[in-house]
Amino acid sequence: MDITLTGILILICIIIYSSWDTFYRKRNLPPGPTPLPLVGTLLHIRRGELVNSLMKLWSQYGAVYTLYFGSRRVVVICGYNAMKEALIDQGEVFGARGHMPIMEKYVQGYGINLSNGERWRLLRTFAVKTLKSFGFGKKSIESKIQTEAQCLVEEFRNSNGQPLAPNKNLIDAFSNVLCAVMFGDRFEYKDERFIKFLQVAEQILSLASSKWGQLYSILPTIMKYVPGPHHDIIRISEKLRDFFLERVNASMETLDPTSPRHFIDSFLIKMAEEKNNPDTEFHLKNLLMTSHNLFVAGMETVSVTLRSGLLILLKYPEIQAKIHREIDQVIGGDRAPNYEDRVEMHYTQAVIQEIHRFSDVIPLNLPHMVTRDIQFRGYDIPKGTEIYPLLCTVHRDPKQFSSPWKFDPNRFLDENGRFKKNEAVMPFSAGKRMCPGEVLARMELFIFFTTILQNFKLTSMKEFTETDIAPKMAGFLNAPIHYELSFLPRKI
Ligand code: HEM
Repeated sequence: MDITLTGILILICIIIYSSWDTFYRKRNLPPGPTPLPLVGTLLHIRRGELVNSLMKLWSQYGAVYTLYFGSRRVVVICGYNAMKEALIDQGEVFGARGHMPIMEKYVQGYGINLSNGERWRLLRTFAVKTLKSFGFGKKSIESKIQTEAQCLVEEFRNSNGQPLAPNKNLIDAFSNVLCAVMFGDRFEYKDERFIKFLQVAEQILSLASSKWGQLYSILPTIMKYVPGPHHDIIRISEKLRDFFLERVNASMETLDPTSPRHFIDSFLIKMAEEKNNPDTEFHLKNLLMTSHNLFVAGMETVSVTLRSGLLILLKYPEIQAKIHREIDQVIGGDRAPNYEDRVEMHYTQAVIQEIHRFSDVIPLNLPHMVTRDIQFRGYDIPKGTEIYPLLCTVHRDPKQFSSPWKFDPNRFLDENGRFKKNEAVMPFSAGKRMCPGEVLARMELFIFFTTILQNFKLTSMKEFTETDIAPKMAGFLNAPIHYELSFLPRKI
């Protein structure tokens, strides 16, 4: 036997031996497919069909099952009841963040999205409080959203009814709302700095969602050594950092410590207050990473939700007509829609809720992790195990929704036609890690949706099918197909 063969045999023995403890040592773990050395249970995930494969395993193994991405153990949680038991009833234990290797490469545990423990608690509490004080859910942010929605309407009006893909316009508008919150001002859509900034942010998101980014997320230990575009994430993210740094420096020059104007000002004031604390979490690195986090998390998600919603209205003109009627009755044509209008717009609320459920924008949620050993539904989950609380299984849970694959806003109306909530619609997740941008996102979606429909009838040359409007997984997000539509001005 030559040396190479001996070497290969020794390597195989090492792999089998090291896999033994991870995979096969008898533990009371949730059930799941049998893992293989090196690949774990990856062979049970069909290429390009991650969501469907995980849903299929749900029907095979039940609401809690175990998978292995290589040698990384992941416990998957499915359906509304199990999700509530984990993220809400046991929120403290299930509330830590799991791994997102492609993002971790740049973020390195700073900021909110990927941090844990005391750093996460301090930064998240600060962000939620500060964003609230700048008007999340209040009038000040509402007027900024209304201004942006009117600018968007102007853009659509200038298209003179010609078909266009709304992607860029929506990204511009929602990013501008975030800019207003973070730095206090909006940009003209043609401003070179804004265009460059959005290009960089877009590059980061598409790299993270690309095949390379996903491979890196599933097999980080191997992909670390494989050359490819996934290594560019640091270089690109640094460009975004430079943009934030410019804004931070500009804010510093004009800062009045008694009167913060926006998120960055408030963070700078907190940094000054804590400058003598050597362990403070309020330093420049956390400010830059938190800004990065808020943009990466808040730009594309809202825009994709609205893009899915507009496509659905093209497929169902009768639903669009009903919303037009409700807008005409409640708001009319002489004033801009405001968030309070929703209270009287039961049908529109039901449609938006159904858009959230049906378009299921973050189907796999972000990964969580358990902070200690825990017994869950009769199984033992060891401390540090990664948890995938799948939102797609909640939004398609047949125990909560009849015909879950069908778009039907009537499921959210009671017998008197009034909007009725259902806790099983959780696009923003639930529990300790729940999206802190929820209030902003809901306000944006309602105001943009009603402002667009107050002004336009949406049409398309193409007839869309149920398959066309079904969510399509692209990286982390379920995005709609590429489509064009015409904005025909309405007279009320
Ligand atoms: C329709 C729009 C949005 C959807 C569907 C959405 C959904 C989500 C989901 C599912 C998570 C993961 C929650 C978990 O780990 O359990 C999340 C986290 C997060 N989102 Fe959103 N989001 C949206 C908009 C926004 C906006 C506008 C912002 C910023 C202003 C934002 C900021 C964040 C942040 C900072 C986190 C990380 C929270 C943490 O780790 O503690 N999101 N979002």
